[in-house]
Amino acid sequence: MKVSIIGSGTMGVGIAQIAATKGHNVILYDSFSTALENAKNKLKKILERLVEKERINKKESEEILQRIDFTDKIESIKESELVIEAIIEDLDVKKKIFIEIENIVDEKCIIGSNTSSLSIASIASSCEKANRVIGIHFFNPAPLMPLVEIIPAVQTSSNTIEKTKSIIDSWAKITVIAKDTPGFIVNRVARPFYGEALRIYEEGIADFATIDWAIKEIGGFRMGPFQLMDYIGNDINYTVTETVFTAFYFDSRYKPSFTQKRMMEAGYFGRKVGRGYYKYDEEIPKPNQDRILGKKILWRILSMLINEAAEALYLNIATKEDIDLAMTKGVNYPKGLLAWADEIGIKNILDQLESLQLEYGEDRYRPSPILKRMVKQNKTFY
Ligand code: NAI
Repeated sequence: MKVSIIGSGTMGVGIAQIAATKGHNVILYDSFSTALENAKNKLKKILERLVEKERINKKESEEILQRIDFTDKIESIKESELVIEAIIEDLDVKKKIFIEIENIVDEKCIIGSNTSSLSIASIASSCEKANRVIGIHFFNPAPLMPLVEIIPAVQTSSNTIEKTKSIIDSWAKITVIAKDTPGFIVNRVARPFYGEALRIYEEGIADFATIDWAIKEIGGFRMGPFQLMDYIGNDINYTVTETVFTAFYFDSRYKPSFTQKRMMEAGYFGRKVGRGYYKYDEEIPKPNQDRILGKKILWRILSMLINEAAEALYLNIATKEDIDLAMTKGVNYPKGLLAWADEIGIKNILDQLESLQLEYGEDRYRPSPILKRMVKQNKTFY
């Protein structure tokens, strides 16, 4: 099967690597020849490393590279069965390229978009046969992260959903189906991980290092929120927050933080520039390892995360299984949030949210109706 990837940046090259490793002939198209050159060099280095680590042998690495045609001629995507677009995050530019793609491929070809934040319905509306357009959202780095969110638009046919799912499943990825709503599953449910941590810092309850320590040491998360924001980049993470906030008609639950905005404005993007919440040329400050304080911090962030996961279930964004899978496989959470809620007790989560809402008087802390109903009916998620 021939697979084409549009855009040879960070995501495009990663997706091309996956498809070629699975034996597909891949067209990797980009309109900029320097981007193609960079992509080829990057992929060569990655494959060399995989050979060094003995994950693949030399012959396999050569075959993977040979299967990919790096091209600036979009006509090469002809006869593809699947095209995945991974160009810049701009609706007008994406719509234009979807029209171009549709003019070249035949009507059976599925056209996916790797967008993180745009609506699939709006991208699909640029196509005459919009029922073959679908969101196929990989996580960075695509070859390493197991999760792929599949997002049908209102126009997408069930045949397109099934075929897409079966192809991506055959690439040894874990697929979840998400409704075409801002942030899909992961980028929506994860918002309080950053937002509530920033709020706790802003209130002066604890510093970055202490919040990170609490989340890792007591919560069992692989990275603390500030460490993770510095890793993702404060520019990127802030933009996602702002996009989600705007897309949700300014729901205060998703309100961005001035602390992070100032980091971005100052150019303190995080690890990639050597300075974010932490200064990477200096020793990381020591956390206050007070376990009572740590538990309070974890408890507050975790209740907000669970509330977000519960609300996503309440609004049928995805099934409970897919919501839990998305967070464990897309962002490495130690447990699925809904399964975690069962373990903690739904009543305890609800009590925490209600007491925060009462104390702050802010809509940000409103508990999802599903939690209230579950407590009344004495139910659990699983
Ligand atoms: P990137 O900036 O690394 O790569 C974009 C590529 O598209 C560049 O090589 C550029 O030359 C090319 N391009 C731009 N306009 C084009 C056009 N009109 N025709 C052909 N090629 C064009 O971007 P990245 O990070 O790979 O993101 C791509 C898409 O994937 C975006 O929609 C982004 O939101 C999404 N995404 C990004 C993730 C990330 O962590 N970087 C994660 C998941 C999704």
